[in-house]
Amino acid sequence: MFSLLALPLLAVAAAVPVSRQDSGGVKELWLFNDIRVSDANAIKTAGYDTVIMFQLGIFANASLAYYGDEKGQNDNPVLLVDGGVYVEDIGLADIVTGYKTGTTTIDRTEITIVSGNVFWQRIQAMVEANGTGPDTALYQNFAALKTAWNLDAINDDDEENYDVSSTVAFAQMLGQIGYKFTTAPYTNTFFWAQVGQGINDANLYDRSYLQCYDGGEGNDPGLWAFEVGMPQVPLLWVTNTDKPQDGNTPAQVQSQMQQWKDTYGSNIAGGGLWNDYDIYYNNNSYQTYAQALEAVFG
Ligand SMILES: *[C@@H]1O[C@H](CO)[C@@H](O)[C@H](O)[C@H]1NC(C)=O
Ligand SMILES: *[C@@H]1O[C@H](CO)[C@@H](O)[C@H](O)[C@H]1NC(C)=O
Ligand SMILES: *[C@@H]1O[C@H](CO)[C@@H](O)[C@H](O)[C@H]1NC(C)=O
Repeated sequence: MFSLLALPLLAVAAAVPVSRQDSGGVKELWLFNDIRVSDANAIKTAGYDTVIMFQLGIFANASLAYYGDEKGQNDNPVLLVDGGVYVEDIGLADIVTGYKTGTTTIDRTEITIVSGNVFWQRIQAMVEANGTGPDTALYQNFAALKTAWNLDAINDDDEENYDVSSTVAFAQMLGQIGYKFTTAPYTNTFFWAQVGQGINDANLYDRSYLQCYDGGEGNDPGLWAFEVGMPQVPLLWVTNTDKPQDGNTPAQVQSQMQQWKDTYGSNIAGGGLWNDYDIYYNNNSYQTYAQALEAVFG
């Protein structure tokens, strides 16, 4: 968090070399492809330190599911946690815990909850009806998922519901369970600033991954850092066939990330890539993209 007085400092930071940030920084890959389909070993050894799975579903009874079918377009969720018990038995837990074990550069795993399909609406309804105490199904199911997957964080990719108080209460519940809380905004700085102020805990809400493509095209991570009060990890879309004009080669990723880092210094906390599916199906390399991030963020 920083005050309005920090704005002139941003401008100063832009003008001088910033050696303190020359090493370190998030290097993240979004796992859009079904994790059962992708080559986990190739992803583990490419150079990323964080992977974030797309996506976690939540039913009205608080049971949790993985919607990882190819490109996220198959409505065939895998039930993960039901009635407080981890029930999935087709190998997902082994894949997820495996990202951080054996030969790997990954030390942090997350899964995202997106709003387009009512999940944040359901969380709001559950929080308002029953709260977030340890006796609620919501709490117990997220606790069971944490134990089974050894996850580090739950990511909030709310793109539509935008309810501050239930989001803050939910994040605080996640913190009690032992998760970190992260966000993946593309618009609505007012909402995300209120969430940050409501949580008011940089150890719990420790990362903001800013979409700088598609709906977030043109987002300026330095301006966002100022407006929401925390450093940003900008996300770029890799070369793809869905919106080729939004795609970035590894060289373009490196160049854009370097420019943001040179301009905004410590307000850029790393970089991330949307997404593994497009890297693989366009015959590009997880490793070459990871090297583009490593070149900037160490
Ligand atoms: C919760 O809802 C899901 C989806 O409808 C269902 O499969 C599951 O059996 C329900 N679990 C409980 C404990 O009610
Ligand atoms: C609230 O808790 C009650 C009792 O456990 C349960 O029947 C109900 O479905 C819960 N409501 C929501 C919205 O989760
Ligand atoms: C990737 O390579 C495969 C096998 O050579 C080919 O069939 C496919 O069309 C290629 N994909 C793209 C997007 O170029």
